[in-house]
Amino acid sequence: MSFSFISQLFFCFTVFIYFVSLRVESWGTPIIPISSLVTKSLYDTIFLHKDDTACPAKNFYPYQSFIKASKYFPQFGTTGCLATRKREIAAFLAQISHETTGGWETAPDGPFSWGLCFKEEISPQSNYCDSTNNDWPCFEDKSYKGRGPIQLSWNYNYGPAGKALGFDGLKNPEIVSNNSVIAFKTALWFWMTERKPTPSCHNVMVGKYVATKVDIAANRTAGFGLVTNIINGGLECGIPNDERVNDRIGFFKRYTKLFNVDTGPNLDCAYQKSL
Ligand SMILES: *[C@@H]1O[C@H](CO)[C@@H](O)[C@H](O)[C@H]1NC(C)=O
Ligand SMILES: *[C@@H]1O[C@H](CO)[C@@H](O)[C@H](O)[C@H]1NC(C)=O
Repeated sequence: MSFSFISQLFFCFTVFIYFVSLRVESWGTPIIPISSLVTKSLYDTIFLHKDDTACPAKNFYPYQSFIKASKYFPQFGTTGCLATRKREIAAFLAQISHETTGGWETAPDGPFSWGLCFKEEISPQSNYCDSTNNDWPCFEDKSYKGRGPIQLSWNYNYGPAGKALGFDGLKNPEIVSNNSVIAFKTALWFWMTERKPTPSCHNVMVGKYVATKVDIAANRTAGFGLVTNIINGGLECGIPNDERVNDRIGFFKRYTKLFNVDTGPNLDCAYQKSL
């Protein structure tokens, strides 16, 4: 352990104790609301180009929709010490940015200023219907293509997301690209939900993930890379220098800098077995 790691741990702990001592009477309620960690001005700096005419999602992802949706998941961005909270939020915003990016190598302000540019998949390869899934049967004429900040896809995700959030995901998947609060809620639902044996992205980023022997043998230790593994490891992990993984990391680095927090270890999943 390096000195900086220990001192950071100590700092985190001190800050944590400070806030606990201030608010002991309100255990369980968010000590710092999301909106004070992600102000409108920070949000607009992070998503610098989301309302460009070049972006198909122009005006679809306003700040208030993100804040509204996050209140539905009171543990998001409110767990752990201040640095942990910022890092979790930065990781979430980075992952949804990669999923919806309109950036390219030489884009104005760099490729990592173009998150939230798309709200739905433009040329889907299929309707993303897994017809072998009997729990969440598809409607014949519906497409379960990528929609919203996390690009929710497949009937087996639309069904449970809708059930958890109060809409019919199988009958009305389009609502995810028509209602921005619901769109953000689906992304946060994906982020917060554990699908055993796969951990939730949230638990990984707040230090509640405990690696099993199998995980350790697969190099799946906590960090941003493991979140990438949860989201799309089957296609992106276990491959050295994958450009999609690097794009996710690029967003995360820019955002952690804006949040003034370090990235933590294990940024990529190049040497992880996919989940
Ligand atoms: C969703 O929006 C599209 C246009 O973006 C529109 O064609 C469609 O009818 C809307 N669907 C619902 C369910 O509101
Ligand atoms: C774990 O990482 C090491 C390098 O750090 C690599 O040599 C090994 O193959 C990885 N294991 C798996 C299962 O990918």
